[in-house]
Amino acid sequence: MEKKIAIAKGDGIGPEVINEGLKILKIISQYSDYELKFVETPLGGEVYKQTGTNLPKSSFEQMKSSDAILFGAIGLPDLPQGIAESAILKMRQGLDLYINLRPVKLYKPLFEICPLKPEFYENGIDISIIRENTEGLYSRIGGIVNNNTAVNSMIYTRKAVERIIKYAYKYASRKGHSEIISVDKANMLACSEFWREIFLEEGKHYPNLSKKNFYVDAFCQWLIRAPSSIQTVVTENMFGDIISDEAAFLTGSLGMAASANINPDGVSLFEPIHGSAPDIAGRNIANPIGTILSCKLMFEEAFNDSKMGEVIEESVVTALKTHRTLDIFPRNPQKHEKLLKVTCSEMGTIIGNELKSRLKK
Ligand code: IPM
Ligand code: MN
Repeated sequence: MEKKIAIAKGDGIGPEVINEGLKILKIISQYSDYELKFVETPLGGEVYKQTGTNLPKSSFEQMKSSDAILFGAIGLPDLPQGIAESAILKMRQGLDLYINLRPVKLYKPLFEICPLKPEFYENGIDISIIRENTEGLYSRIGGIVNNNTAVNSMIYTRKAVERIIKYAYKYASRKGHSEIISVDKANMLACSEFWREIFLEEGKHYPNLSKKNFYVDAFCQWLIRAPSSIQTVVTENMFGDIISDEAAFLTGSLGMAASANINPDGVSLFEPIHGSAPDIAGRNIANPIGTILSCKLMFEEAFNDSKMGEVIEESVVTALKTHRTLDIFPRNPQKHEKLLKVTCSEMGTIIGNELKSRLKK
């Protein structure tokens, strides 16, 4: 199977983690039926400095004609806030990537570094956050009106709410979940009232799924109080942004978290959620697992190949038993003599070797 993958490295630790993702994809290309072709699609702050645009037309055109996009991170500390980052919105809105799927899974070898007390996550953590990815406050309607006033409008159209909620119900059924949670602020916001109505209406087609509505403040508490009980969560854009950072830390580090920006009828984009982390860029200490698990999502969601997704995940979990990047290394290392602290590129190689041995079989 031939697939063209756009590679968008971006700024900060983006290039470091994407190189490890590429290592994994090249192994798959070598040891399976996939024939993966890569095309570099530069974007971000550095590109903005050189060309005056954070997403050159040529990159965007290449992305549009690809089978999937692997994206690192963008953002540079020496540029005004948002200048580089707006490229993310251009891709999400320009490619109509209306679903942002953010799985939050605590892997067995990392149980000990979960920031919660063990009794709070006895049954593990395996949550799927489904974030609306094109509207809400990210519609960017508003501005600084004058010296004393600024406005942002939260906008939701029926089309946007219906399609994300339909996707979430289908996803929960596909995963065999028994419950779906919708997060809103219906006691305050008209957009949430509208959202909740549509959530309940669509839910009539899914009599076997139990439905819960949480206000976003209460849900932030629920997330640390009963994470083992949470399965599929669907929410609007900004709430999803905030909740997914909180949730990701439950898995040990933001560096573990992967995401899929999906357009079911077009090309989808896969990215770690950690951002460009300029403070650690260029030191080869970043965690490449968020990117490698984004490759897992690529096979599952873009190539409809859950088997390959599983093999990638198994390779990650096996590597975690013996090797760790700095962010997921236990605080009391004397208790863990067998664990080795490794760099970003070493971690990628170790996971790659695990993958190779599985694909060769
Ligand atoms: C994310 C990021 C982006 C967002 C920023 C960089 C625009 O925080 O992907 O979660 O707010 O969506
Ligand atoms: Mn975010």
